[in-house]
Amino acid sequence: MTTSAKVSIVSNVIALGALAMAWFTAPLPLYFSYPVHKLLHLVGVMMFFGNLVAGPVWLAVALFEKDRPHFAFAAKTLADLDMYLTTPGVQLAVWNGLCLASVFGGVRAQPWLVEAVAMMVFTSLFSVTVVLHWQEKLVAAALENDWPKTKRAMTWWSVFGTLVGVPLALVMYLMVSKQALWLTLTPPPP
Ligand code: HEM
Repeated sequence: MTTSAKVSIVSNVIALGALAMAWFTAPLPLYFSYPVHKLLHLVGVMMFFGNLVAGPVWLAVALFEKDRPHFAFAAKTLADLDMYLTTPGVQLAVWNGLCLASVFGGVRAQPWLVEAVAMMVFTSLFSVTVVLHWQEKLVAAALENDWPKTKRAMTWWSVFGTLVGVPLALVMYLMVSKQALWLTLTPPPP
């Protein structure tokens, strides 16, 4: 297993732990001013979401060039970027998002936040199992210069990687609209 994959697993366990803590215990406080937390949240989102979108495009271009050493380099770099962009990005987005949520009464108080947390849990579990599995296979096959294996792994990694982008795009919508897609919360009795 690559170092980057190990770091991804640890990062996902920490993020899931943070979400569970905020869900089952009291909301996190604001440690800095609200704008600072929001800025850090958005820097995190840009880092991991930007990488999620730009990485596969770069890799697809490298694949079509049919220059195998170049493709192997691109695949390895993409995996390494999980360590340098995805991991810090996810941690910044989740922890600061949870601090921001306290101003809205906590993650359980708003239907849009409940949906966002559910989608983040799904995204985390799916990416650390299925997507990471195919990414590891892709990097190994590319470094071994096994082209049929590389193309097969690239296909499955692209399918599952695209799938994982859907809930994240929905979380982005939830954050901007602050309207739940499906849930309504029953207001407490007067
Ligand atoms: C479970 C994790 C998350 C929590 C608890 C959370 C919480 C929040 C909260 C409470 C706000 C409101 C801040 C404000 O408008 O003043 C916010 C804003 C925002 N969040 Fe998240 N967030 C999470 C994950 C994400 C993710 C994964 C994305 C991107 C895919 C994202 C993108 C945004 C954006 C773009 C805003 C700014 C919205 C605006 O100003 O209209 N958040 N987040």
